[in-house]
This record gives sequence, structure tokens and C-alpha cells, in this order.
Amino acid sequence: MAILQEKAETLPGEGEVYAASPTDFKAFWPEIKSSYAFRNRRDFLAFMRENHGRIYCLYRKEVELPPFVLVGDWRNHSDIRALLQVKAEPWEREALIRGASEACLAEGTRCLITRPLPDREAEEYASWGFRPFCTVVLLEKTLRRESFPREPDGASIGHFRGRDLEEVLETDAAAFEDFWRLDRRTLSRIAESCLQNVFLVAKQGNRICGYVIGGANGRLGYLQRLGVHPRFQGQGLGECLARRLLRALQLMGATLVSVNTQEDNLPALSLYRKLGFRETGEKRFILQFPARESPGSRR
Ligand SMILES: CC(C)(COP(=O)(O)OP(=O)(O)OC[C@H]1O[C@@H](n2cnc3c(N)ncnc32)[C@H](O)[C@@H]1OP(=O)(O)O)[C@@H](O)C(=O)NCCC(=O)NCCS
Repeated sequence: MAILQEKAETLPGEGEVYAASPTDFKAFWPEIKSSYAFRNRRDFLAFMRENHGRIYCLYRKEVELPPFVLVGDWRNHSDIRALLQVKAEPWEREALIRGASEACLAEGTRCLITRPLPDREAEEYASWGFRPFCTVVLLEKTLRRESFPREPDGASIGHFRGRDLEEVLETDAAAFEDFWRLDRRTLSRIAESCLQNVFLVAKQGNRICGYVIGGANGRLGYLQRLGVHPRFQGQGLGECLARRLLRALQLMGATLVSVNTQEDNLPALSLYRKLGFRETGEKRFILQFPARESPGSRR
């Protein structure tokens, strides 16, 4: 990996942050693949090309692979970047994150966000000038005898098919606020993120009006995403989709299901409590930089 550093036109000084050349991205793959953010190396390289992907490194003269942070567009937002992965020793993190954040802003990024962080990491970022953007609560439910409810009048629920994709994205865009809307790539990644996955869509007539995605890794199940078009909310569709998903997860062998949502998403919290989910007490924090910007709101 020393080659990476020698290729730079002007060598950075020890401890300085520099952007790795795109021709060197492949060399980082062995470290990046463990994050499961990308399907494979091809998917990773495509993401880097299409989403302003950057790898910022901390210059170290005598190391195999320099400490690095991977940054890319947040979903469809080319003015918001997400810090997707950080690989650095604790004492190198501040210089790396600060340097990478400044480099992103210098390139025109309006705002940077972290992934959902546990307490201690969130405090660390806050001490570097990041500010809390949103708090996510985690809920769990032990599956018992899950029912298979009938659809509300006029609705039908079935499995997602490839041709449903555009309408699911439209439903998602209508249900969620701008910041949280899914792009095509993230939707696909969510829909294949577990060993076994379920993707159900609800229709009124021929039109998709809601969907739910979940999956199971052995006994652990996940409710990953649920959305109902605002025109069809309040009619029992969200509950029906979620219950059908829980039933499917149970049939796959899951016994415990997790879900998370924003602390202030009262409709979702109320629905999850109604379904028997309980808060675990654990929270995750997404932080933003610089503090004065506002990337968006409600999920
Ligand atoms: C959360 C959501 C999926 C609920 O779908 P829905 O079809 O409107 O929900 P239902 O009609 O099935 O309602 C089921 C329960 O949800 C809760 N609920 C739904 N809307 C609510 C609201 N506006 N305020 C408070 N609770 C609400 C209630 O507990 C309700 O039970 P009740 O009718 O006995 O009071 C929908 O509001 C939505 O798509 N929101 C935006 C996307 C989102 O936040 N998704 C979840 C986070 S990942």
C-alpha cells in the first residue's frame, strides 16, 4: 500500500490527510468488504464512481494500509455525504475525521453525516465539532403465535416483483421526508441484506400503496423498512403489512425481531408498540457536520 502514497504528486506530510487516487480504490476492498455495505467489489467500485466516493487517508510512511475513511453521497443527495466506514486506531481518528470533513466541505459538500453511532462514539464525534442530527431508538419483539391478518377492504398484499420497483420508490418518496427517501441502490441493498429476505407490497387495485421489507439471520429477524403512501395511511395497511412480515419471519425460523426508528416518529412507534415491540433502552445517534447545516428531518 506504500505505492498508494508514493503516487501522490506532492507527498503529504506525516499525519496529513489526502484523498486516495480512484485507481487505488481496489486496494482498500479487503478492508471495506467486512462492512457488508456493498454486494461485492464491483458494486463498491460502481458506488464510488456514481456517488462521489472518496477515500481519505492519513499519511503514514511505514504502513501497509493507511488509516482511512470512506465517504460517499447520502442516497440521492449529492450535497450530503455520509461517513460510511472508518478504519483507524483510536488516536488517529480525530485527525482523520476532521481532515476528511474539511476536504469534503472544500469540495462543495453542504453537510456530512455519520452512520448511527452508539453513545461513546457519538460523544467522540461531538467533541470534534459534530452536532446531533437525530436519535434512533431500538425496539424488539419476541415472536409468539403471529397472526396472518386479512387485508383492509379493497387492498391486496403480495410479494414484490421486479416490475414493482418504480412504484415502490414512488411510494417510499411519498411516505418519507426527503432526507430519508431511498434511492434504487439502497433499496436493493436493504432487500437483500439478510440470509433470508421478505419484501411485500400492498396494492389498491393495480397501484402499489405500501410496502414492507424484512429478513432473518437464523433466529434474529429484522423489520427493515415500512412505508404506506399518505393517501392510504390510517386504514390498517401498515399494521397488516407489518403483521404479515412478522408471520413470514417466524416461518423462516426467527424468534426475536428488531426494528428501529427515529425517536420522534410517533406513528411508527405507536404501531410497533401495538404489535408488541418494546424499547430495548439502546439508542443510536446520527451526527452532522458542520453544526449549522440542516440535512433534513423525519424518517
Ligand atoms: C408508520 C406507518 C407505516 C403506519 O401506516 P398506516 O397504514 O397509516 O398505519 P395503520 O393504519 O395500520 O395503523 C396502525 C397503528 O399505527 C399507529 N398509527 C398510525 N398512524 C398514526 C398516527 N398518525 N399517529 C399515531 N399513531 C399512528 C396506531 O397505533 C395505529 O393503531 P390504531 O389504529 O389502533 O390507533 C405510516 O404512517 C408511514 O408510512 N409513515 C412514514 C414512513 C415511516 O415512518 N415508516 C416507519 C419507520 S421505518
